[in-house]
Amino acid sequence: MRAKLMSADEAAALIRHGDNVGMSGFTGAGYPKAVPAALARHIERRNAEQPGSFRIGVWTGASTAPELDGALAQVGGIELRLPYQSDPTCRQRINAGDMDYIDIHLSHVAQFVWFGFLGRLNVAVVEVAGILDDGRLVPTSSVGNNKTWLEQADRVILEVNHWHPTALEGMHDIYYGTARPPQRQPIPLTQPGERIGEPYLRVDPAKVVAVVETHASDRVTPFAPPDAVSQRIAEHIIDFLGHEVRRGRLPKDLLPLQSGVGNTANAVMAGLNNGPYENLTAYTEVLQDGMLAMLKSGKMTSASATALSLSPEGIRDFMDNLDFYRERIVLRPQEISNHPEIIRRLGLIAMNGMIEADIYGNVNSTHLMGTRIMNGIGGSGDFARNAYLSIFMTGSVAKGGSISCIVPMVSHVDHTEHDVQIIVTEQGLADLRGLAPRERARLVIERCAHPDYRDALNDYLSRAESLGRSGRAGLHTPHLLDEALSWHARFEQQGDMRVAQDR
Ligand code: COA
Repeated sequence: MRAKLMSADEAAALIRHGDNVGMSGFTGAGYPKAVPAALARHIERRNAEQPGSFRIGVWTGASTAPELDGALAQVGGIELRLPYQSDPTCRQRINAGDMDYIDIHLSHVAQFVWFGFLGRLNVAVVEVAGILDDGRLVPTSSVGNNKTWLEQADRVILEVNHWHPTALEGMHDIYYGTARPPQRQPIPLTQPGERIGEPYLRVDPAKVVAVVETHASDRVTPFAPPDAVSQRIAEHIIDFLGHEVRRGRLPKDLLPLQSGVGNTANAVMAGLNNGPYENLTAYTEVLQDGMLAMLKSGKMTSASATALSLSPEGIRDFMDNLDFYRERIVLRPQEISNHPEIIRRLGLIAMNGMIEADIYGNVNSTHLMGTRIMNGIGGSGDFARNAYLSIFMTGSVAKGGSISCIVPMVSHVDHTEHDVQIIVTEQGLADLRGLAPRERARLVIERCAHPDYRDALNDYLSRAESLGRSGRAGLHTPHLLDEALSWHARFEQQGDMRVAQDR
């Protein structure tokens, strides 16, 4: 490995136009810090000589950072991006039609690559915390798809980032037991904190073409203190969980928690940390500050994830108390952290954000106005479909109140009415389990819609029902299709005006 040490520029020069490159990185953690930037400079030079002459496919665990997604998108170097992004420059390029994007359930990616559905993986660029004498690799603050990239890529570039503490060693659990059907066996994981694999990533040393040393921190975003809307949403969820415990539908220590990323999710964790529950566990995708605080307070006993996504204070706390957290946190490949079999077996309480929900319970997590991508489905589909409880949350309005996040018909469906059980806004919580479509519609309007939009939604529903009663449409899921589809156009104009005013 030492013989392969080189600069980031030399390593980047080993990547060729048209290559599919599998990079490490998940929610700003564990992404390569030097090679993507060097590659972006190289691509910029090549494309200045001949526009469009150097473009690659970029595959990752999930979102990365401006130094990876931003830098490569800025120079027009990405032909195709998958399986998730949340970068403003990528988003703008995708929505302008300059860059293709495949938005994939995160648990599916490894299998898609093993079977070649996505084409050949030419290069892996993977950040590690260290290399053992026998060539095994110490993973970093995220595992994501690294196992798959290292196994499947023709050539491997390793970035050894000395910023990651060596004491991370032992926190990871890399499961090598997944086989292809029909040889597949049950995954032997029955508790969130259980270890079923090994702490290191394997790589065939013969495939390693470059080793680059770095010393750079992960991307860290400070969390805003919970605003009034997030706090109200958190209160509704916590009340609801208490209600479920009293009804005997949840055990007194709840079930393992899965929480999406963002300030609302963090506020729910803060609420649970101050709540009456003990011995909580998490089986989630990303571990944020809120869960770290719960581990520290002892409210949570163990947490499993594929990546950390911590604020600057969170990172300091994590580093200062690494021995404590290593006993309680397990980081796994995303094919296991998001595996439907395990999610169903453990009976998770899944809580994810959304852009909008419709009155019947369909949820849009990814598209504005049905055509413009925001981020992607991420793991929300893996969890929503298979969890014991699937909760979706949003403020009832967006853009200063000019857009309702409760609509007659979502402009794009990520989670169907069959996968969505609970909808929560700051206005209230609607438990849709066991309700027929028209009952759901009434409840969602009454509990979740902002008062400014309730009349319009009720008016819509009653006119749709009249159409059904007249025999001109179905009454199972009553809709006025022309109006349902034009609802967004009507309110988007207001939203655009509000955004222009805000700026
Ligand atoms: N119409 C138009 N814009 C809307 C909107 C709507 N109905 N709802 C939200 N937005 C805008 C907000 O105004 C905000 O815009 P800005 O960035 O210009 O300020 C942006 O969308 C994000 O909304 P915000 O209210 O800040 O919510 P968030 O940070 O909680 O993100 C999602 C919400 C849906 C974008 C986010 O949860 C997501 O990407 N989810 C999919 C992936 C996922 O669930 N991952 C976790 C799985 S483990």
